[in-house]
Amino acid sequence: MPEDIINSFMNGPDEKGRFGDFGGRFVSETLMPLILELEEQYEHAKTDQSFWDEMNDLWTNYVGRPSPLYYAERLTKHLGGAKIYLKRDELNHTGAHKINNVLGQIILARRMGKTRIIAETGAGQHGVATATVCAKFGLKCVVYMGAHDVERQAPNVFRMKLLGAEVVPVTSGRGTLKDAMNDALRDWVTNVRDTFYCIGTVAGPHPYPAMVRDFQAIIGKEAREQMMAAEGRLPDTLIAAIGGGSNAMGLFYPFLDDKDVRIIGVEAGGKGVNAKMEHCASLTGGRPGVLHGNRTYLLQDDDGQILEGYSISAGLDYPGIGPEHSWLHDTKRAEYVAITDVEALKAFQLCCELEGIIPALEPSHALAHVMKIAPELPADHLICMNLCGRGDKDIFTVAKALDVNMGPSD
Ligand SMILES: Cc1ncc(COP(=O)(O)O)c(C=O)c1O
Repeated sequence: MPEDIINSFMNGPDEKGRFGDFGGRFVSETLMPLILELEEQYEHAKTDQSFWDEMNDLWTNYVGRPSPLYYAERLTKHLGGAKIYLKRDELNHTGAHKINNVLGQIILARRMGKTRIIAETGAGQHGVATATVCAKFGLKCVVYMGAHDVERQAPNVFRMKLLGAEVVPVTSGRGTLKDAMNDALRDWVTNVRDTFYCIGTVAGPHPYPAMVRDFQAIIGKEAREQMMAAEGRLPDTLIAAIGGGSNAMGLFYPFLDDKDVRIIGVEAGGKGVNAKMEHCASLTGGRPGVLHGNRTYLLQDDDGQILEGYSISAGLDYPGIGPEHSWLHDTKRAEYVAITDVEALKAFQLCCELEGIIPALEPSHALAHVMKIAPELPADHLICMNLCGRGDKDIFTVAKALDVNMGPSD
């Protein structure tokens, strides 16, 4: 879709699920009837007030929405430039933005008569949110998680088990999110009758990228209203971290047509965006291809084989990105940058020390970019960053990276 015929960035995707050259529906014949049924149900739900009444009730009374928009005063003073606001989605029940979307998908699954929910998870936050909502509604829950992530996100694995979910460690590839999603898709193809696949990010075949975005857009809708109430105007810059891209799309989407609002997505730069591909910056260091049912930017070799990628953060450790981000990148509506592990760790520590908030490693990447640009901006420049998860799950990873022994002291 050339830029001159885009009349609204909020119009996508087209009827085939494409955002410009990206997205679509690359799935096997077996899945097609299911995907079409899901699309029909979602299209119906979108305009059904009773669906949104149920969502709003649960968002308010179960999740604890709206999440606050918090002026990070000490961080602002420390950096000495732009005024920094944090959208506190880490305060949601289960500790991240993932539950915003899970509620929507599970309400749909119940309407479709599905009794078994499957999910993939990286950092474990989507798995925990899915296990939580399944427990609430008495549904069977199976979560696929890469074996490497099972190890580095152990607290979340235990939480999922406490909540009654079965956690299946996936040992193929590097044992991260990509591999978990492969196995979840395999499960879905073999259990089409009773199973609903609850995808945790704005990836997968149409209608998932648009549907997950729509459920996460509550973040941006609230941020808009809260910023108007606090400052009487829209923010100048939005910043969010990107794994598959759902918290970022959730924040960005309601602002896409506000051309004066600068939009920045932060990918995982790992050990640096280099030829060794020790990063997960799909837009910064990848090129278009097809993975997990959609066309998007991917880390791949010259033969189109998907590369494993790397990040200290399990939630950002994905060699692809949601197709809408690829489109926003190519149309230049949004900018995408990469932040390394080391930079994210510094931001993690600064947020703990200055704001009394232990952030997840994922939004620590976004914060590291805030730290880069805020000092150069004037004091009346408003930054809104999505603090999309809390860091309890990451303390062991951070301790290891900082060479701190967490074993018993005596
Ligand atoms: C706290 C947190 N933030 C961000 C992400 C990345 O996902 P997305 O890009 O879909 O928001 C994850 C994924 O697990 C997460 O747990």
